[in-house]
Amino acid sequence: MKDWRDYKKTELHRHLEGSIRLQTIIDIAEEAGVTLPSKDPQVLKDHALVLTPMKDLSSVLKKFWLIQSCLATETILDRITYENCVDAYNDGIRVLELRYSPGFIKTNHDKLTYASIHEAIKRGAARAREQYPDLVVGFICIISRDLPLRDAELTADLAISHKDSFVGFDLAGDEIGFPSIGFKDFFKKVRNSGLGITVHSGEARGPDAAFSIQESIEHLGATRIGHGVQIINDLKVVDYVKRANVMLELCPTSNYLTHAVDTVEVHPIKKIMDLGVKVSLNSDDPHLFGIDLTHEYNLLARTHGFGQREFDQMNSNALEFTFLNKQIAAQAMK
Ligand code: HPA
Ligand code: ZN
Repeated sequence: MKDWRDYKKTELHRHLEGSIRLQTIIDIAEEAGVTLPSKDPQVLKDHALVLTPMKDLSSVLKKFWLIQSCLATETILDRITYENCVDAYNDGIRVLELRYSPGFIKTNHDKLTYASIHEAIKRGAARAREQYPDLVVGFICIISRDLPLRDAELTADLAISHKDSFVGFDLAGDEIGFPSIGFKDFFKKVRNSGLGITVHSGEARGPDAAFSIQESIEHLGATRIGHGVQIINDLKVVDYVKRANVMLELCPTSNYLTHAVDTVEVHPIKKIMDLGVKVSLNSDDPHLFGIDLTHEYNLLARTHGFGQREFDQMNSNALEFTFLNKQIAAQAMK
């Protein structure tokens, strides 16, 4: 079967904190003075990565805190961003929207400020772009819904004061107990500053999961939804999303590992596309999940019979909905 590595890709949903090489985690832990459960990559893997399905999204999100403890300095943030862009480039990605949560990174790290985090991440990406000028990169700023509200406020302020070096704004973390509507005022402010809006919604299973997609569009002004895989359980929401012309950023392996779907074979990606909803294909947290974006292409080719037609369509959707300059992005994909 064809390998899709060299196929040019646009990735709109990729978390910086979930895309750190295993060896780099070992190096930066030492720099940050963090004691890891093991320095042996083969042993550390079981502690730091998610390679088999966990109980739910919340269990997966807890895994991030070990990595987070290592994100203690600007040098470290510069390095992981640089490596992230290099890895994306070698994955065939030419247009990348990289997202991160400044509030999450800042937690317990007194040497960092929201602004210094952003500047370090910008420097890392700029170094990679010197090496790969044909890679286009933009940043999405995330509010972690489960952190104190003061962090949400500081995150919105950072996005607005740095609106020229962010392209978009997002809400991530566990939806249970933290519905989108509670963040309405922050999103209004940020939307008015001109940034694009995408919101993690309808990811984990739950009675209100599909409807939460509609709420994120109605109340936060999302033009893209992170995941939205649970849309398949409510055809009224399917209709709503189509009428609103909103695109879903789907991440099949992530959904399998967070137990949002039972298997990749039963992932509703094809059904969602056949219902006329626009989708793009993404890796979410590639290193945490032990995958890359090429893996997702090969996986869908194998399990759902996807080929050139489906992948071209998904990349064309991504280019239509990117928060980056659309002409520059389209040029990088040629
Ligand atoms: N969902 C919510 N929050 C996240 C995710 C996700 O898949 N990945 C990193 N933060
Ligand atoms: Zn995500």
